[in-house]
Amino acid sequence: MAQTLLSVSNLKVSFKTDDAYFIAVDNVSFDIQHGEVVGLVGESGCGKSVSALSLLRLIPSPPGNIEKGNVLFKGNDLMTAGIETVRKIRGKEISMIFQEPLSALSPLQRIGQQMVETIQIHQDMPKSRARQMSLEWLGRVKIPDAAEKMHAYPYQLSGGMQQRIMIAMALMMNPDLIIADEPTTALDVTIQSQVFQLIREMKTEHTSILLITHDMGVVWEMCDRVLVMYASRIVEEGRMEDIFSAPSHPYTYSLLKSIPRLSDGKGNRLAVIPGSVPSPENYPSGCRFRDRCSFAFKKCRTEMPELVSVSDSHRAACFIAGKFQ
Ligand SMILES: Nc1ncnc2c1ncn2[C@@H]1O[C@H](COP(=O)(O)OP(=O)(O)OP(=O)(O)O)[C@@H](O)[C@H]1O
Ligand SMILES: [Mg+2]
Repeated sequence: MAQTLLSVSNLKVSFKTDDAYFIAVDNVSFDIQHGEVVGLVGESGCGKSVSALSLLRLIPSPPGNIEKGNVLFKGNDLMTAGIETVRKIRGKEISMIFQEPLSALSPLQRIGQQMVETIQIHQDMPKSRARQMSLEWLGRVKIPDAAEKMHAYPYQLSGGMQQRIMIAMALMMNPDLIIADEPTTALDVTIQSQVFQLIREMKTEHTSILLITHDMGVVWEMCDRVLVMYASRIVEEGRMEDIFSAPSHPYTYSLLKSIPRLSDGKGNRLAVIPGSVPSPENYPSGCRFRDRCSFAFKKCRTEMPELVSVSDSHRAACFIAGKFQ
């Protein structure tokens, strides 16, 4: 039976700026099993990155504040553990891959040096062995002339190559969990699919991935399970087939209804749903999707729907979950 690797419960994160206070992540709970690839999707601003960063206590504070929540990872609650413990887990047991590789690579250090240092922070290994290991990983992520590239600075390499190096650095520590936040958005479509292919090949059986994306096509190709976020909350979660064949929240339904066909080659970014995403400073009462929902009725204006089971593996936060089509 699958074992839980990460268990997030009731995560709540707020921001306080000069003129506003708002909740960016509202009572988010989910689990990731060993070896599972979980997609986190939702429109811009719904709280995906803030959720991911909060798991590793990387939210800038102030203005951010993790108000409550537990994040159990291999027996540690990352929310209450000492920051040193969390730092050790970051990069070794949990690695992150970001949209912008230059934010993860140091501009002032040669590639080889960065890789060797990363290895040596986490493993007691002589420099020569760490260099050898770095070289092997550059080969695995198909960097041509790897020995030469070890001497390059990040800016001397293309975006696709930087991204592959970041992936090599994330994977070489053999992490239990990879958090990938829009890892390919900055890349062109061909390189994007190469990068995903690579992540799939490199992933071992026990590596889990939390994959944040706008692209339902990527979810379809990569994920076992999907979390759909809307306005700071998870509004639907289920196995891939649950979500794609029986979307049970009107938001997910609208997202999928208007996806261009997977074969048209134009990519499958989230469809545009009429109406605008409410901003966290003024979420409506009741269901936050109600003003854009063609199935909304009176209760949706006053009561917030909680997640309810649609099947063993599938939950949606709607009063008429799965019954509106
Ligand atoms: N450092 C910050 N200071 C103030 N507000 C922030 C900060 N970081 C994020 N927010 C706000 O928190 C909310 C959630 O942002 P988040 O970055 O998680 O969205 P997202 O779902 O990742 O969007 P995108 O798809 O555009 O990456 C947004 O309203 C955003 O403006
Ligand atoms: Mg984001």
